[in-house]
Amino acid sequence: MTQLRGDQVIVVSNREPYIHEHGKDGRIVVKRPASGLVTAVEPVMRACSGTWIAHGSGDADREVVDANDRVAVPPGQDDYQLRRLWLTAEEEQGYYFGFANEGLWPLCHVAHVRPVFRESDWEAYKAVNQRFADAVVAEARSEDPIVLVQDYHFALLPAMVREKLPNATILTFWHIPWPNPESFGICPWRREILQGMLGSTILGFHTRFHCKNFIETVDRFLEARIEHEHSTISFREDETLVEAYPISIEWPADATIASWPSVPEARRIVRERLGLQPDTTLAVGIDRFDYTKGILERLNAVERLLEKHAEWIGRFVFVQVAAPTRSSLEEYKNFQERVERLTLRINERFGRPGYQPVHLLAQHHDSHAVNELLRAADMCIVTSLHDGMNLVSKEFVAARDDEQGVLILSRFAGAAREMTEALIVNPYHVEETADALHRAATMPAAEQRARMASLRATVREFNVFRWAGRMLTDAGRWRLKARVDARVA
Ligand code: G6P
Repeated sequence: MTQLRGDQVIVVSNREPYIHEHGKDGRIVVKRPASGLVTAVEPVMRACSGTWIAHGSGDADREVVDANDRVAVPPGQDDYQLRRLWLTAEEEQGYYFGFANEGLWPLCHVAHVRPVFRESDWEAYKAVNQRFADAVVAEARSEDPIVLVQDYHFALLPAMVREKLPNATILTFWHIPWPNPESFGICPWRREILQGMLGSTILGFHTRFHCKNFIETVDRFLEARIEHEHSTISFREDETLVEAYPISIEWPADATIASWPSVPEARRIVRERLGLQPDTTLAVGIDRFDYTKGILERLNAVERLLEKHAEWIGRFVFVQVAAPTRSSLEEYKNFQERVERLTLRINERFGRPGYQPVHLLAQHHDSHAVNELLRAADMCIVTSLHDGMNLVSKEFVAARDDEQGVLILSRFAGAAREMTEALIVNPYHVEETADALHRAATMPAAEQRARMASLRATVREFNVFRWAGRMLTDAGRWRLKARVDARVA
């Protein structure tokens, strides 16, 4: 990343890009977590090096770090340093499961799950934000490092870092949606959260719409000066640029594509593995097992398709990969049970010997397995009820160098704004989604090619380096401006 020119880069996120775990035979295995954040930020870190600070969550994580809790990653490549910070079970419960995932996650997604706000979670959230902020400050080799703060786990950290390192360039990226002021206003600590975030030099969201919601929220709850023209907010000493940076994926290199099984090969392998007929029309969904992803809605649509178009019974199969996530939380347990029940119902209703319409694979799949499924599929279904961006939709088109396959995409995912050649659906509308499945299953190859080629051109160009590059270019401008201002003052 040429924009960096020797500046020190420190990334902070809750989720680590590599997790070390004990495999079944006791040996240590490395896992890449299912996380849009990791998918996007990891290639950027590989390109610019520096240090990534994250919670060490794997049961073998402590066994591979040095005396300073560091490990060089990616394993064997050693492009950058992963510095692990250890949280106690209580800290993790209050800060991560509690405030971040029972409070902020439903608050920002507005997916009809009630946020829970506990005083004790808030205390843990503040304390953990401070611990990570201290780690950033300890890491800084100069008074003005570039700090890339990731996501809703760290709303307070920007102001905490700013207090100790007033000249740092703090780029905060909020990977999830930002709701309107009425919705956000129910958070008891709304002011503290906004103030914390406004410690950032640049605050990024996926879409203009989320930026607008954020600016309106600040306008409602803080005494701040807002310059709509420049999309800046001045609060106390700090000025923050609020900008949309649509996140993306790393476009696969030619050598990577060459290493993939051919599409006919992937189609054969996957259909054989799942015990499907060679000519089965295959739809796939790849998600974390999360209630925001619209998995129930897409199952309803599959059921409706089979009801409406009996010709698909026996010929259409839907495979849902659902990577376990936050499973200790009640809402997640309930949701996962509901998905299992609905799957069972559809399979009982339409299945018959040798035919199971829905396959629910509730396990972590590595990137190789995901890629194979995406290449084997006739369509990929993304029906999030609300999603900051959704990178699976982009991974699907990146996987299809054969320019075949149809993307069905929720209008409530940030990706719908860029990926307009997908079949865009309202997942709450079962009939419309079922019709989209039928349309995808019957779409002529030429139309698939036209749509897919265009989607691929968009994602290839607006890849993750473009995302990071734009943010860093803006940061560079601000650093220059700050230096000039300092000289003039
Ligand atoms: C979303 C969040 C990320 C998070 C990911 C996985 O994409 O925006 O911050 O890492 O989900 O969730 P988890 O709770 O497993 O980190």
